[in-house]
Amino acid sequence: MRSPAGAAAEAPVAALDRYLVIGNPIAHSRSPEIHAAFARQTGAAISYERLLVPVAPAGEFARVVDDFFGGGGRGLNITLPFKEQAFGHAQRHSERALLAGAANTLVLAGDTVVGDNTDGPGLVTDLRDRLGFDLAGKSVLLLGAGGAARGIVMSLLQAGVASLTVANRTPARAAALAAQFNASAAVREGGLPPVRAVELAAARPADLVLNATSSGVLAGELALPSDLFAGCSLAYDCVYSARPTVFMVQAEAGGAARTADGLGMLVEQAAESFLIWRGVRPATGPVYRMLRESIGAQAGGAGDAR
Ligand code: ATR
Repeated sequence: MRSPAGAAAEAPVAALDRYLVIGNPIAHSRSPEIHAAFARQTGAAISYERLLVPVAPAGEFARVVDDFFGGGGRGLNITLPFKEQAFGHAQRHSERALLAGAANTLVLAGDTVVGDNTDGPGLVTDLRDRLGFDLAGKSVLLLGAGGAARGIVMSLLQAGVASLTVANRTPARAAALAAQFNASAAVREGGLPPVRAVELAAARPADLVLNATSSGVLAGELALPSDLFAGCSLAYDCVYSARPTVFMVQAEAGGAARTADGLGMLVEQAAESFLIWRGVRPATGPVYRMLRESIGAQAGGAGDAR
């Protein structure tokens, strides 16, 4: 059939699968760059953009999520301060999201919004595959008892650690976190070690010390016991930065054998989301190297693993 008035027949344009990362602020997010690289690598036709969502009025986040999925969107990443709201809005949850009480990944299964949390698996994969750190049988000290810490506890326990202690400036918060995990079926019936809780200033040395506080890359040093890093094989900061973070410098000065920032965790949690959405896990090594180079080229480049 001829096209009307001799107009050139238009080739059908394949619709892109749409993804977003939602947060406030959001301009700093590296997720679009990471997912674009995953898409090139796997030959996926996707668009992945940032969306700034206002924190008020209440309900705005839920409206944005519903509009997105209602309009055919395929998947969402959620970052601060909406991970708990994302969890609350999801109608079904993965076990790790349930235990974290927070979701960083949303996907539609039929008509159901499913919430998942890929931060823990992202950290464990980075430790194992990039840093060659096997968690099995290790003592782990987790600094911080907020949302970032809660998101990674179960993955650490399931990776076979010998012990996990959560140390927090406000000890009651660490105790509440420990009680919550210790009451879970995974710990009670799964043969996992119970989580211990201490005040930050009373933390004891461990094989791996993880910083999941929000004290940030530019804030001052954490008030830690002076011998905390003696015998520490790895001190890992869940945030990333062009230069060693304050925590990394503090750990190295204290005798930690090795330090790392959270750039690898950022890339691995993204790969895990990509896997949930698209059924394929992209190779993360090249994307990690690309990002490391790119943040190194930007003076002061810093961010969190989201
Ligand atoms: P996030 O979701 O990023 O974890 P959060 O839920 O507000 O944020 O938790 C922040 C964590 O960082 C808490 O464990 C907090 O300790 P408190 O519970 O005592 O507030 C910790 N934190 C933030 N700044 C800190 C600092 N300067 N020294 C020690 N801990 C700090």
